[in-house]
Amino acid sequence: MEKKNIDWSSLGFGYTPTDYRWETRWHDGAWEKGGLTTDSTITLSEAACVFHYSQSCFEGLKAYTTRDGHIVTFRPDQNAKRMQDSCRRLEMPVLPVETFLEALDATVKANAAWVPPFGTGATLYIRPLMIGSGPQIGVAPAHEFLFRLFCMPVGSYFKGGVKPISLQVSKYDRAAPRGTGHIKAGLNYAMSLYPTMEAHRAGFAENMYLDPATRTYVEETGGANILFVDKDNNLIVPKSDSILPSVTRRSLVYVGEHYLGLKVIERKVKFSEVKDMKECALCGTAAVLAPVGRIHSDEGDIYLPSGMDKIGEISGKIRETLLKIQSCEIEAPEGWIRRI
Ligand code: PLP
Ligand code: COI
Repeated sequence: MEKKNIDWSSLGFGYTPTDYRWETRWHDGAWEKGGLTTDSTITLSEAACVFHYSQSCFEGLKAYTTRDGHIVTFRPDQNAKRMQDSCRRLEMPVLPVETFLEALDATVKANAAWVPPFGTGATLYIRPLMIGSGPQIGVAPAHEFLFRLFCMPVGSYFKGGVKPISLQVSKYDRAAPRGTGHIKAGLNYAMSLYPTMEAHRAGFAENMYLDPATRTYVEETGGANILFVDKDNNLIVPKSDSILPSVTRRSLVYVGEHYLGLKVIERKVKFSEVKDMKECALCGTAAVLAPVGRIHSDEGDIYLPSGMDKIGEISGKIRETLLKIQSCEIEAPEGWIRRI
C-alpha cells in the first residue's frame, strides 16, 4: 500500500481530513449497525442537544507503525471504557467496547496510507466522539445520539518537540470537586478555552490548575496530567478525583515502576511542594510526555533544576521507554498493543 505524499516529520498537531471515518447512530433504544463513510461532515437539527446543552464527550488515542511495517494501537480498550464512563455521567448511551474496537480497526485499516511511517516522529491521532444529536429544547438528555471515529496524521502537540515548556498557575478553575473533571466531556474544554488563550497571550504553553475547593493542591493542565520527579528520584503522581484518569499517565507509572525500577508515589501534591521537585512533566496522548522547565504563579517563578534546555533525566527515560513500547521496539505488558 502506497503512503500519502506528506512531509511526515514537519507535521504539527492539527486536523487533516483523511479518506474514511466510522459512524453509528443510536435511536429507539439501540445502536445501528454502523460502518465506514467518506463524508467528513455531520448534518444535524438546529435543536440538537449538543448545540445547546453540550451533551458531548470524546476520546484521543494513537496508531503507530512498527519497524517491520505493522500498524498498532495502544491500549484502545482503556479509551473505550473511559468513554463509557463519560457517557454514563452525561446521560448518553454506552457504546459496547467491541463496537468501539471494531470502529477503530476499520477506520485505521481503511486509512493505512495516512499512518505515518516508522521513525518519522509522527503518529496517527484517532478521535472518537459521541454527541446528543436529537432535538431537545427543555433541559434533558437527547433521544438520539451519534458516535463517530475519525483520524489524522499528527506531529508533536507542543511546538519545539521535547523542549521544556513554561506553565502558569491559572487563576481560573478547571473542574468542580464533584463535577465532571474525571470524564472527557466537551464542556470541560469549553471552559478552558479562555484561560488557555490567556496563558498563550502571556507567553505560557499551558495552565496548571489547582484544586478549586482550596487552591492548595496541583490538579492538571487543560489537556494533560502532571507528573513530578522528587529529589530522591521518586515519581510523584498528583492524586485527585477531579482530574482525567490519563491512559498515558497510568502507563508511564507502570513503566517507571516495572521497567525502570522507580518508586512511584501517588498522593495529593501541594503547590507549595513544587519548588522542591527535580523534574516536572505533562503527559497525555497528544502531549506524550512534555517536560516543564518553569512554572509561574503570583508568588513568582519556579525554575525546575532540569532547566529550560533539555528534558530531565528520569522524564527522558520514561518517555523513551513508553515510546519504544508503543512502537513495539521493546516488549509491551500483556494486552497493551492491538495490532490492526
Ligand atoms: N487530562 C486531560 C484534561 C486531557 O484532556 C487528557 C487527554 O486526553 C489527558 C489528561 C491525558 O489523557 P490520556 O493519557 O488518556 O490521553
Ligand atoms: C489527547 O491527548 O488525546 C487529548 O484529547 C488532549 C487534547 C488537549 C488534544
